[in-house]
Amino acid sequence: MNLRLSFSILVCCLMAACSSEKKVQNNEGPVTDPHSFSMPQHVKAKHLNLDIAVDFESKTISGIATYDLESTSGNEVIFDTRDLTIYEVTLDDKSKTEFTLGQTIADKEYLGQKLTIKLKPDTRKVSIKYSTSPDAAALQWLSPEQTNDKTWPFLFTQGQAILTRSWIPIQDSPGIRITYNATVRVPKPLLAVMSATNPTEKNNSGVYTFVMDKPIPAYLMALAVGDLAFASLGKRTGVYAEQKFLPKCAYEFADVEKILEAAEDLYGPYQWDRYDILVLPPSFPFGGMENPKLTFATPTIIAGDRSLISLIAHELAHSWSGNLVTNANWNNFWLNEGFTVYFERRLTEKVYGKDFAGMEARLGYQDWVNEANAFGLTSDDTKLTVNLTDRDPDDGMTDIPYEKGYAFLRYIEENTNRDSFDVFLKKYFKQFAFKTITTPVFLDYLQKNYLNKFPDFDPKIDLWLNQPGIPAQATPPVSVKFDALDKMIASYRDGKISEKDFNHNFSSHEWVYLIRKLPDTLTDKQFENFNKLYKWSKSGNNEIKAAWIEKATITGHGKAILDDTSAFLESVGRRKYLEPIYTALKTKGLGVEAKEIYAKARPLYHYVAVRTIDELLNFHPK
Ligand code: BES
Ligand code: ZN
Repeated sequence: MNLRLSFSILVCCLMAACSSEKKVQNNEGPVTDPHSFSMPQHVKAKHLNLDIAVDFESKTISGIATYDLESTSGNEVIFDTRDLTIYEVTLDDKSKTEFTLGQTIADKEYLGQKLTIKLKPDTRKVSIKYSTSPDAAALQWLSPEQTNDKTWPFLFTQGQAILTRSWIPIQDSPGIRITYNATVRVPKPLLAVMSATNPTEKNNSGVYTFVMDKPIPAYLMALAVGDLAFASLGKRTGVYAEQKFLPKCAYEFADVEKILEAAEDLYGPYQWDRYDILVLPPSFPFGGMENPKLTFATPTIIAGDRSLISLIAHELAHSWSGNLVTNANWNNFWLNEGFTVYFERRLTEKVYGKDFAGMEARLGYQDWVNEANAFGLTSDDTKLTVNLTDRDPDDGMTDIPYEKGYAFLRYIEENTNRDSFDVFLKKYFKQFAFKTITTPVFLDYLQKNYLNKFPDFDPKIDLWLNQPGIPAQATPPVSVKFDALDKMIASYRDGKISEKDFNHNFSSHEWVYLIRKLPDTLTDKQFENFNKLYKWSKSGNNEIKAAWIEKATITGHGKAILDDTSAFLESVGRRKYLEPIYTALKTKGLGVEAKEIYAKARPLYHYVAVRTIDELLNFHPK
């Protein structure tokens, strides 16, 4: 069959299969989202005015969320909430109105409770007076000991995927965008920052105001409060961190302005005015979170040698893929993350060269292959678009949308033409800016604006998009450095060289690759030699440290480095490190030790990490 025809048929089938998603196409109609109660097709919020106070004593945020509503075609408006107390709701005429808070649905506590508010025919504003629960899933309240400087308490939020509803009553679907203003009252010695225009200094009142005048989805609402200071990095870039930690952070991120310029060169103007980074205390559960204007980042990337900067390139890239062009619901998460990984690697290639980007791409490919094998190559969870209905969308956060998404885009690029693909992507970001996107809409756009120019190329859409596993067409990314290292590792396996012969001036990526490639049958002697020679479990680079702790443990040598392992697990809350290490401990007969460490470390971890590790270790807090 003619390729173009078969592609069109496929897109039609995909669109029919997701007929409810068809309406998303022009971003005008309703967006179906299995993870939100709100019914934007009836009444949609357009703007939020948030007026809140942050209370560290009671671990609560309380205040008023006032929404401007878009023309109403219903007599009620629905918001998502989770564990919020709603005191009263008033309308623009100051009258109180009726509201109901739904029950938590069994096995779906992650959805929270539906808030339904009665409207009058001419209502254009609703004000919701509320407070959060001390256990709000999005919020982490840190004691001074849990911060870097150990002097002041700290609060941060994590909204993605559907946690914002636990600190603001909101239409919590990525398909719905709002602008916002906020007034935030905090204890006087502390500074508040948000995903908005930010202050750079503390004031004497402890009251801070914020504006986000570009429409953003609820998962990008963000707030942090702490003893923060600011350092400028460039014209449009800067970094916030706790006072004493700030100089190290500023050193680590010296290239950020340059990366921002490289990003604009590739895919068009930066739309968010400033790009700042907030470095959080170590319990931040992710590497980074692309909150607009203010990326939230883990301190575990402050390595002292700028080697882990690609995480910032990734979060910056989200300013286009994700924050400008947003997945309409979490089933389409790959459209956020796969594009961002592609963009990230193009950026690191531009700024740091092919070797650097190639190594990261190869490590990512390994992650994909490992994850796909762990799921099983026929598992639906290895597909690019997943069905997360009736599941917590956090379950969709695997390496698949990141790396299979990246591999798909790289496959198109490599089989067509990089320059033309860049022109296409730039156009795509412009076309869908401040809109939402679904897979069928993207595929249709891709076909009509790009693939039609390459009639001889078979994009294997069905294989990439609808089939599980790893397409035969997927090729490992080129890395000359890793190919050389592979040869060394082969010689080592053949007994031609020994542990000490790896004593090179390797980059951190090479060390990680080497550690991952060491034999699963690492003997006591081999383990001891490596451990003594390179002291990886004490490395200042957390990628190396985590890789070695996992490798040593999974190969049966966990006991020998248990002190380093527990010190690491008790000081870092980044889930990407915790999950494999706790898994290795559990599978290698150190389950009791794992539980002991976890019992001590758990208060440091954010809800999203706790949820994962509780389940992993079958841990039931007393
Ligand atoms: N947006 C994600 C983080 C996220 C995804 C939070 C889903 C909650 C639900 C962020 O951009 C991300 O991908 N972070 C990665 C780092 C990146 C370099 C792959 C992380 O945190 O590890
Ligand atoms: Zn991301």
